[in-house]
Amino acid sequence: EQIEKGGYDHFMLKEIHEQPQAISDTYRGRLLADKGIIKMGSVDNNIAKFLNAKRIIVVACGTSWHAGLVGEYLLEDLARIPVEVEYASEFRYRNPIINKGDIVIAISQSGETADTLAAIKLAKSKGAFVFGICNVVGSSIARETDSGAYTHAGPEIGVASTKAFTTQITLLALMALKLGNLNGELSNSKFHDYLQKMSMIPGKIEQLLNINSEIEKIAAIYKDAPNCLYLGRGYNFPVALEGALKLKEISYIHAEGYPAAEMKHGPIALIDESMPVVVIATKKGHYDKVVSNIQEIKSRNGKIIAIVTEGDTIVKEIADHVIEIPETEEAFTPLLTTIPLQLLSYHIAVMRGCNVDQPRNLAKSVTVE
Ligand code: G6P
Repeated sequence: EQIEKGGYDHFMLKEIHEQPQAISDTYRGRLLADKGIIKMGSVDNNIAKFLNAKRIIVVACGTSWHAGLVGEYLLEDLARIPVEVEYASEFRYRNPIINKGDIVIAISQSGETADTLAAIKLAKSKGAFVFGICNVVGSSIARETDSGAYTHAGPEIGVASTKAFTTQITLLALMALKLGNLNGELSNSKFHDYLQKMSMIPGKIEQLLNINSEIEKIAAIYKDAPNCLYLGRGYNFPVALEGALKLKEISYIHAEGYPAAEMKHGPIALIDESMPVVVIATKKGHYDKVVSNIQEIKSRNGKIIAIVTEGDTIVKEIADHVIEIPETEEAFTPLLTTIPLQLLSYHIAVMRGCNVDQPRNLAKSVTVE
């Protein structure tokens, strides 16, 4: 097992560090930035269905559901296709409406999640075209869907999903860009610009991973917190949800992810000097509004750990800790902002003596209801 961990103490840490490679593997043969094209056989072969889609319904569970939420922002923003994201377990039991021209995208790392599989079967029985995004090749979901694409993240052993999440987002970004360009929502020049910036993501994650020891120091300060709040807006709202889920899963600290502006409708009541609040405040993502959310937290003595774009000066003045991420398109920031949150939960869990790779009560793949 030590050999399989490749010199890392845990599979989770290894898999966090594998993300630049995993994303490059998701790109391989698909993202041809120099030629200005995105090749995806499974999308190309069904292009009429995708271009005529009235609506896309994403079904998934857990972390894959969070990737689906990022997909909603990507597909609506870049390709202007209406998207709904559903928990597979809810979708399957509420007699969902599926209209002609709707596409269902099922997202699953393992390809074996019982609720997602049942949601796919139901969608198919109602006549939907179902597209799968899976990591495990030949899995049940990969076989059950009408078409699909693999993330090619490689085996994910840690129960808490890391590289599967970022590669799912990567695939959704490729699809959104491709469809947006083909349906005329994204001009060629904009599209080419996105492709160039997208090809730089693995290198930027590599650079970002150097903050590991900085995050370890922050983890040491907050490891005994009983609660933690994660806030983000827009593209980074789902990242806030995922950050909170990671902390809950492996460190057993109660954590909640919230859209930053919703804070005033509830969570603000919880904020005092013992409450760490992780806020994602990247430059283009409704920055000014998030800054005022940060000020509201500060005035209630909350402790702020802010994820900002490099070179930020305003948040630095207010926040207790600042973690910088490299500059990129707003649409791609979830691929970067996720990394420090994964590392934060990892280090806190290690410091609390938790079983990081196999947290209590959780399974890597939930094959029963
Ligand atoms: C379990 C795992 C999670 C995962 C979820 C969905 O809860 O512990 O990490 O996100 O199932 O799994 P899937 O394989 O369908 O992505």
